[in-house]
Amino acid sequence: MKPIKSTTIFSCTKCGAQYPKWQGRCLECGSWGTLVEEASKVSAAKNLKPGKLADKPLNLKDVEILDQERLKTGSEEIDRVLGGGIVKGSLILIGGDPGVGKSTLALQIINHVPNCLYVSGEESASQVKMRAERLKTNLDKLHFLPQTDIETVIASIRETKPAMVIIDSIQTMNYAELPGGLGSANQLSACTSLLLEAAKATNIPILIIGHVTKDGFVAGPKALEHLVDAVLYLERDDQNFYQILRSVKNRFGATGEIGLFEMTTIGFREIKNPAEIFLSGHDDNSSGKATTAVLEGSRTFLAEIQALVNKTAFGYPQRRATGFDLNRLQMLIAVLAKTAKINLGNHDVYLNIAGGLKIKDPAADLAVCLAIASAFLDIPVGTKTLALGEIGLSGEVRSASQTEIRLKEAKKLGFNKIIMPPGKNKTASSEAVLVKNLAEAIKLLK
Ligand code: TYD
Ligand code: MG
Repeated sequence: MKPIKSTTIFSCTKCGAQYPKWQGRCLECGSWGTLVEEASKVSAAKNLKPGKLADKPLNLKDVEILDQERLKTGSEEIDRVLGGGIVKGSLILIGGDPGVGKSTLALQIINHVPNCLYVSGEESASQVKMRAERLKTNLDKLHFLPQTDIETVIASIRETKPAMVIIDSIQTMNYAELPGGLGSANQLSACTSLLLEAAKATNIPILIIGHVTKDGFVAGPKALEHLVDAVLYLERDDQNFYQILRSVKNRFGATGEIGLFEMTTIGFREIKNPAEIFLSGHDDNSSGKATTAVLEGSRTFLAEIQALVNKTAFGYPQRRATGFDLNRLQMLIAVLAKTAKINLGNHDVYLNIAGGLKIKDPAADLAVCLAIASAFLDIPVGTKTLALGEIGLSGEVRSASQTEIRLKEAKKLGFNKIIMPPGKNKTASSEAVLVKNLAEAIKLLK
């Protein structure tokens, strides 16, 4: 729908005929000097007579749900993150730091889509060709357009009607009719809106690449999230082992879904069974380690928590955490001292999550406490033991959400002792060792 423009019109006071320009004589009724200026900025709603609504409200009961046609990308991980493939006519944003692999991922996505248009304002045709050859992309039906003028890009999309379009990147696109430098917030949202319109009008899916800017997303992809249908972020874990593709918004699927990839010399390789990749792999039964199961989207990962507890040599005791919230660690250390008599007032505590995973899931609390206590007491927790539960300030252990899914994954990997709180459903499995509070859990060590 086009916005109503505010223009001036001239109408005849005698017969009501309207003209865009002033003139001496009304051509309709022939009177002289009857044209007067009138502002015609009338809202569309005011013009409508009762019973003549242009857009009648619909009863949702009568609305037919159209089957969402999805393009498969050939990668199970990407398809799952997108909720089952790329919906036709959708606008998808892939955001991420420069160099994380957005262009690579985009080329791999279109590998299985015949007839694609790759618009680049960043790289030359030979650069893109080099990468595409490295990734063994099918070059037969891949069209390249080095262009930054968004209107030319959209005209080309409408003319060539590809099966899919990649815009690399939105920050390099320019809408000539708008003031504001390249990559300014105005330009970004104008270009994105134009692409959205084009995607809906042509039913062609468009994938936009957006760099996350250093200064906290101000003119970056964050500002565009409300415009597009789906937002994916490509992140790298701290130790550069894996790339994580995360969906933070999806109008056609679930959010919070993640896909795991590993960058190789021939592009991304998907990691299909990631449950155990964050375990350190050593089966040694040393103290200071505990395993838990964390949820990310519909995925369960088993994570190994490592703790080091040392007598403080000098000054204040140190508390350091990698992959875990430091404030939460401080709180857990306080609860350990208060309720389980593990007093770390004169000890440094270092916490590390193996494999560079970042844990936000509160269900890891119990494993963190057990790892610390195990390091302090120098008693191993056991290699086939898993701990699940959130710790409250008074030391009570609360159930983790979706315990069943986590237990299933743990059993699959051979864990035969699960330390967890008694749940609401009393059907605890034979592997479960139930504890009500932290003190009971620590007692299991001794
Ligand atoms: P790129 O996709 O250009 O990142 P972005 O578009 O997000 O800026 O590539 C990121 C890095 O990946 C680059 O430093 C080179 C590396 N790379 C590989 O290791 N293997 C490969 O097969 C490709 C294509 C790239
Ligand atoms: Mg790039």
